[in-house]
Amino acid sequence: MNNELQKIKEEVIDRIKKIRKEIDINNLETKYLGRKGELTKILRNLKNLGEEQKRQMGKLANQIKGEIKNQIEEKREEIIGRFSSKDIDVSLPGPKTEIGHLNPLTIVQNELEELFISMGFMILDGPELESDYYCFEALNIPKNHPARDMQDTFYIDKKNEEGEYDLVMRTHTSPVQVRAMQKYGAPFRGVVPGRAFRNEAVDACHEHSFFQIECLFIDENISVANLKAVVGEMLSKIFEKDVTIRIRPGFFPFVEPGLEVDMSCTICGGKGCSSCKNTGWLEMGGAGMVHPNVLRAGNIDPDKYSGFAFGFGWDRLAMMKFGIADIRLFQSNNLKFLSQF
Ligand code: PHE
Repeated sequence: MNNELQKIKEEVIDRIKKIRKEIDINNLETKYLGRKGELTKILRNLKNLGEEQKRQMGKLANQIKGEIKNQIEEKREEIIGRFSSKDIDVSLPGPKTEIGHLNPLTIVQNELEELFISMGFMILDGPELESDYYCFEALNIPKNHPARDMQDTFYIDKKNEEGEYDLVMRTHTSPVQVRAMQKYGAPFRGVVPGRAFRNEAVDACHEHSFFQIECLFIDENISVANLKAVVGEMLSKIFEKDVTIRIRPGFFPFVEPGLEVDMSCTICGGKGCSSCKNTGWLEMGGAGMVHPNVLRAGNIDPDKYSGFAFGFGWDRLAMMKFGIADIRLFQSNNLKFLSQF
């Protein structure tokens, strides 16, 4: 009987090793351990033995049964592993993967870049920590000129060799105008989507760090008509409909004539509401024909070339596109806000 048990054990273990399918392991289990199984039969026959033999054989048989059980379980796990058809319903939808959201500013930026690239513009970048020269001087705003007060500048607390504070956080994206002219010459077409900084009292409409998109177009015979066409194209793209714009005189030292561009209020359709202070118009930004002094600073001959420039609040564009009432939300890292886009 001892031999018989050992033989069965070897036989079973050998078979288990060769098994590859779940059904075979189930069958094997029934064949040996089932109610009419071979091992069960032997255990049942124990009762015919003498007391001492019964004890010894019973112990051995149970030990072998345990071993076989373990081997079967191991094999079963190896075959079906974690993906047991019993545990997993493959027809259920999988867990939803959380993906990130683009900030509405990025959505607008992507749309703007795509549009301007399609019109043959370069997309440019420039330093946020800017020299006084590019931020003001080269833009026809000399030192002590009252126009400097228009922009509440953050000066950097570091003097140059002449004892002057000559580094600023750029107050607009316009410094990239002269940088671009110096680097690429004329004719030139480019836009600069970027961050700008002003020492403003922060409220729902004002941020100390905000976003602008600067546009510069230089060629022969460029006029305000070209400016109007490009601005119209840009706003129609962002708002996905034809928008009415209005151009009024404005003053910026780096353009002549200087213009302010308004757009008919998208929120009330021009009838007048709190967003447009009941005027029906929203201020989009400054624009104008590039001042000859600025062209000269960029090494471009003002007698041969002319150009237009504009600088629009790109966060304002995003606010109007998505109906966002508070500019501070863009940089708040508020997930409740961000996950809506
Ligand atoms: N840089 C100006 C501002 O931020 C806007 C502007 C850009 C005006 C280009 C004219 C031309 O206020």
